[in-house]
Amino acid sequence: MATWQSRPAPHCAGWIVGTVALVLLTAVLAPAQAKNSCLDCHSALPAPLGVSESTFSQDIHAHKGLSCANCHGGDPGKDDADQAMSRKAGWKGKIERVQVPQLCAGCHSNPAYMRQFNPTLRTDQLDQYHTSVHGKRLAAGDARAAVCTDCHSVHDIRPSSDPRSSVNPVNVAHTCARCHADAGYMKAYKIPVNQFSAYRTSVHYDALALRGDLSAPTCTTCHGNHGAAPPGVASVANVCSTCHVFQAQLFESSPHKAPFSAAGLPACVSCHGNHGILHPTDELIGTGDKAVCTQCHTSGDPGWVAAEQMKQNLGQLTTTIARADQILGRAERSGMEVTQAKLDLAQARDALTKARVTIHGFRAAAVESDIRAGRDTAARDYQTGEKAMSERNYRRIGLGISLLAIALMVIAIRLYINQIES
Ligand code: HEC
Ligand code: HEC
Ligand code: HEC
Ligand code: HEC
Ligand code: HEC
Ligand code: HEC
Ligand code: HEC
Ligand code: HEC
Ligand code: HEC
Repeated sequence: MATWQSRPAPHCAGWIVGTVALVLLTAVLAPAQAKNSCLDCHSALPAPLGVSESTFSQDIHAHKGLSCANCHGGDPGKDDADQAMSRKAGWKGKIERVQVPQLCAGCHSNPAYMRQFNPTLRTDQLDQYHTSVHGKRLAAGDARAAVCTDCHSVHDIRPSSDPRSSVNPVNVAHTCARCHADAGYMKAYKIPVNQFSAYRTSVHYDALALRGDLSAPTCTTCHGNHGAAPPGVASVANVCSTCHVFQAQLFESSPHKAPFSAAGLPACVSCHGNHGILHPTDELIGTGDKAVCTQCHTSGDPGWVAAEQMKQNLGQLTTTIARADQILGRAERSGMEVTQAKLDLAQARDALTKARVTIHGFRAAAVESDIRAGRDTAARDYQTGEKAMSERNYRRIGLGISLLAIALMVIAIRLYINQIES
């Protein structure tokens, strides 16, 4: 059997010659391939013509081996400006904003091309973009609408998973706000410019930006990245149900469903708003100042009555839980054993949480039934607390009596000793 030592010499020599030739060939070709006169020249130019090497080296396209000429055309092998930026060599000249989507789509809407790099990357950005207000505006000749580079940047484009990307979930609201919070830029349009400032007050911003909870929505979660609405959602106003499933299911079977659709009222947004969604409290329900129900219901109508009833129920359970909690706390601090009752009280709290979800069916009886379960538990816990406290009092009296008896005994012994001594 032949080993590598016993291989015939001529083969070995041929292999060495081949390798050397290959190395030489690569050495000759490599600088030519890497030559990029565009970058050499433009990195020395002032803004807006300057493109620095340190910026472009961060760009995903540079990482994938693409360069200036892949987007701009031209001949990066020539040092002379006229030859490098020659129309004959395919140089495209200045890229106007309206041309940007087509330019990017030249590759990104070509599945066969994109597959060579990343088979999992979507290739529908341009199709989606055409359905968005941005795309429609641009098609109608309005160059102020967002194009690909407004959201993705130019020359330092990064995948959205990169925390420094302008479209990373944590940064995207700032990217949209560059236009949508700029009253001057948006002056021509009759839409509000408060989306970002309102969103910043919301529970969603709080969860995503402050607590790093990536399951909370940012602008593009609700509005879609490229399209008018995220895939599978008929309208942006319906997007809430993709995450808040229970509330949405209850709403679907509620007496609000039919009249809201008939009047074209969005389900969740009618009561919670869209951008500045706050943490709801019991004040939102009922007929008080901050209640949403009074927007549509008037004194005495069935909705008004139901709202008052639900509010009352929630209030009752809240107070019962608070009273039970207080007495159990006192009992515990006095050294009484109330662990089980405290555990049971957690169930009553769960019932309260459940009732706040059940509200979305807008049926007073269903809320009442959640409340009743919780109220019975909390009332039982209160009784346990009371019993523990009277037990404590009983023990204290017992202890008092024993102490008194001992004191009397001590005094008696003292007197007896005195008597003996005298
Ligand atoms: C020798 C320097 C030099 C080289 C090499 C060079 N450029 Fe330029 N480029 C310039 C200057 C100067 C301008 C601005 C003057 C002009 O418009 O002609 C410019 C303009 C541009 C513009 C903007 C046009 C506009 O009107 O906004 C683009 C895009 C551009 N170059 C791309 C390239 C690309 C791609 C390459 C390589 C294939 C390249 N350049 C090579 C110097 C150079
Ligand atoms: C992924 C595609 C892409 C690559 C790669 C790319 N560019 Fe650009 N470049 C653009 C687009 C799109 C614009 C127009 C930006 C806009 O107005 O939104 C542009 C604009 C420019 C401009 C004009 C700036 C101005 O404001 O007039 C210059 C100059 C330029 N690029 C040079 C370069 C150079 C040099 C490189 C390589 C280092 C390069 N580009 C790589 C897409 C690209
Ligand atoms: C010459 C072809 C080409 C052009 C033109 C082009 N791209 Fe790309 N782009 C690519 C390739 C290849 C990748 C790498 C895909 C991968 O491997 O993930 C990429 C990646 C990206 C990514 C990152 C995708 C991800 O999440 O992984 C973004 C964003 C992007 N391009 C945006 C743009 C924008 C915006 C333009 C127009 C200014 C543009 N591209 C123009 C070829 C191109
Ligand atoms: C209004 C802002 C906006 C515009 C305009 C926009 N994008 Fe995007 N793009 C995004 C966001 C946001 C993401 C996804 C971020 C994520 O996955 O969390 C994204 C993702 C991408 C990706 C990664 C693959 C994917 O689809 O998730 C590519 C590629 C891309 N965009 C290309 C383009 C191209 C090409 C255009 C122009 C036709 C464009 N984008 C226009 C905001 C925008
Ligand atoms: C370059 C500026 C710019 C950027 C960046 C931008 N937009 Fe826009 N957007 C516009 C303009 C201009 C309109 C058109 C306003 C109109 O027609 O009412 C618009 C329209 C919209 C609309 C439709 C408003 C309506 O009329 O109902 C939505 C929704 C929207 N943008 C969301 C976003 C989101 C989300 C982002 C960030 C991912 C974003 N935009 C980034 C400029 C921008
Ligand atoms: C929780 C979902 C959600 C989030 C997050 C969200 N939006 Fe909206 N947005 C909506 C809904 C719902 C509407 C009402 C549209 C409708 O009824 O079709 C709306 C409307 C808009 C409009 C139209 C004008 C207006 O104010 O009514 C713009 C522009 C807009 N949003 C931009 C943004 C921007 C920018 C962000 C991020 C700062 C953002 N949105 C975050 C759900 C959301
Ligand atoms: C992408 C998923 C997602 C979408 C879409 C979404 N939400 Fe949320 N929502 C969350 C998350 C996550 C929280 C934070 C829960 C927490 O505080 O831990 C939240 C919190 C809330 C809260 C506060 C709950 C509380 O107990 O404080 C309300 C109210 C709310 N969302 C309503 C809406 C409405 C209305 C919409 C549609 C306009 C909507 N959400 C769209 C994920 C989503
Ligand atoms: C008719 C008004 C109304 C509508 C419509 C409505 N809600 Fe509510 N929602 C409320 C009230 C009132 C509360 C406060 C309950 C409490 O804390 O007492 C609430 C509380 C919430 C909460 C926090 C408490 C919980 O349930 O855990 C979320 C999340 C929520 N709603 C989501 C939604 C979603 C999603 C929709 C659409 C399917 C929706 N809401 C539709 C009135 C409404
Ligand atoms: C955007 C308007 C609107 C808001 C806000 C609203 N409702 Fe209604 N509600 C209606 C309409 C319309 C009907 C059907 C007509 C009717 O019976 O008054 C209705 C019906 C009802 C019904 C069924 C009444 C019956 O006939 O049996 C109940 C219960 C109800 N609402 C409770 C509430 C509660 C509780 C709130 C506050 C959390 C609330 N609604 C907020 C518009 C609204």
